[in-house]
Amino acid sequence: MIDKQKFEELFNQQFIKDISQEDIDIVLSGQYGKALELLRDAEATGLFPALVGPPGVGKTILCRYFASLRARESKSKNFYWLTMDESIKPSHFIGSFDPAITLKKGFILEAFNPGPLLSAMLEGGTFLANEINRATEYSQNTLLEPLEEASIGIPHLGRIKAQEDFFFICAMNPEELSGTHRLSEALKDRIKVWIKLTYPDKSTELDIIRINLPEHFHIEESELELIYSVIKETRQNKIDVDIPASIRAGIAMAKLLGRRRLLEKEEKVKEKESIYIYLSEIARHVLLGSIKPKPGVKVENVIENIIQKTLGG
Ligand SMILES: Nc1ncnc2c1ncn2[C@@H]1O[C@H](COP(=O)(O)OP(=O)(O)OP(=O)(O)O)[C@@H](O)[C@H]1O
Ligand SMILES: [Mg+2]
Repeated sequence: MIDKQKFEELFNQQFIKDISQEDIDIVLSGQYGKALELLRDAEATGLFPALVGPPGVGKTILCRYFASLRARESKSKNFYWLTMDESIKPSHFIGSFDPAITLKKGFILEAFNPGPLLSAMLEGGTFLANEINRATEYSQNTLLEPLEEASIGIPHLGRIKAQEDFFFICAMNPEELSGTHRLSEALKDRIKVWIKLTYPDKSTELDIIRINLPEHFHIEESELELIYSVIKETRQNKIDVDIPASIRAGIAMAKLLGRRRLLEKEEKVKEKESIYIYLSEIARHVLLGSIKPKPGVKVENVIENIIQKTLGG
């Protein structure tokens, strides 16, 4: 394990004080520019938004980018987020008492460690409740007061009012995807701007792949097109595919191909395989965990069909 001194040194070097310091490489064409505008409108009118879309369509990066713009306007508008699931309890986002201090001194303010929601409320920052429909109804209900009254009750300490700049965003996969609870009607009623994100149009997705590719990786436009055709086919094959490849899969394929091209340029690989053979191999490795087939369908068979159709097998 890393030694304590090294840990502190590296931690301080790489500590991000606030999100305004982060460089976020984002493509804002197509749906993303419109969604950002809507987030801005929601903020200006004090309405809380939700981003809804399947895995890997850019919900989190858009929230982070939006939060970074707010934080640039005012340092106190920091960004806090929490990814929800069934194990998340209200204390995870409100905060909790440190057992050692509480044992010595009781339930006093000094013993309380604020959670991300409470921190955002106090500072007037942004709180993102990621995967909000995976939270239990009990946890969802704790969000009702902050959203409706801009206040929150803290056990043993009392109620606090949120700073007026406090902003809440939530993100979720569509409800029909498995592993998600329904959003409670009460919570739904307090979220007023619903922003749907889906798989982007071709030119936007190609730009996203390019922007996520390390600078020293170069791949041809025709190769990028082939990668896109594989990804697109997973989304079109609705008979065999339950959840298709997300943007992440295209980025991963492009990275693997980019590295291969670099090794070829540096003459570190002897054989130069045909692009079709090499991309088929990459597609097999990336798609295996990137798509979910329909029940009863073997994932390997679906992948071979997709490769056959797009790369010619
Ligand atoms: N507009 C964009 N500009 C640049 N990169 C993007 C964009 N949209 C998505 N990406 C990239 O695609 C990947 C998936 O995006 P992100 O994590 O935001 O998706 P998500 O919708 O939050 O997924 P999940 O539902 O799994 O949490 C990331 O690597 C991200 O950098
Ligand atoms: Mg996400």
